[in-house]
Amino acid sequence: MAYTSFFRDADVLDAIGAFVVPWALSQQEIKVWDAGCATGEEAYSLAMIFAERLDPFTLRNLRILATDREESAFPQFEARIARGRYRVQELMWVPELLRSAYFQPTEVPDVFEAVPTLRNCIRYQRHDLLTLVPPESGFSLVVCKNVLMHCPPEAQGPIVSMFHRVLRPGGYLALDGFQPLPEGNTGQFEAIEPGLPLFRRRPGEP
Ligand SMILES: C[S@@+](CC[C@H](N)C(=O)[O-])C[C@H]1O[C@@H](n2cnc3c(N)ncnc32)[C@H](O)[C@@H]1O
Repeated sequence: MAYTSFFRDADVLDAIGAFVVPWALSQQEIKVWDAGCATGEEAYSLAMIFAERLDPFTLRNLRILATDREESAFPQFEARIARGRYRVQELMWVPELLRSAYFQPTEVPDVFEAVPTLRNCIRYQRHDLLTLVPPESGFSLVVCKNVLMHCPPEAQGPIVSMFHRVLRPGGYLALDGFQPLPEGNTGQFEAIEPGLPLFRRRPGEP
């Protein structure tokens, strides 16, 4: 099920702006993995959260890897995300100030396109979490919202362990409000605040 929207799970995204961005500021390369990105609204929301808080020079250090297993026989997430084009109805959850700053009208009525500064931050790769083979490592932040619930229960712990492995020391993991940290993974992460699905990587091997 590939339902998604801009600024979904606003509390988690706010917490990313408050906790993760200031911590990541000094890093030479800020790598974010958006695992289970669907059509890219989440990756673009993350890009706006960083862009609002980083100066243009530091923003060039941001790399968002958006991945999805994309079950369709006619894959289209890559092209959609690369183009960054969304209909006005899809942009309804983007605050007006951000929409006017980061999306431009196109030749198609009611279709807007993300500015190159955002598009250049985001790259798509087809990837199935169930392989347990990470696409890359050295991430400052892994975002996996509304995805683990679609994976078999016995796979959820190993997937979260994979996230732990690919996060740099002190890196963050963002889940959704419906997804508790699997019991076997609680030693790998500490919660930032009770009830908030944002976790910080504890040191050590899984
Ligand atoms: C409900 S959407 C969530 C999209 C976005 N993360 C959000 O919160 O709005 C779930 C997405 O997870 C993807 N997905 C499900 N199982 C997956 C897996 N094993 N590996 C990678 N992606 C998966 C689906 O293809 C779908 O695009």
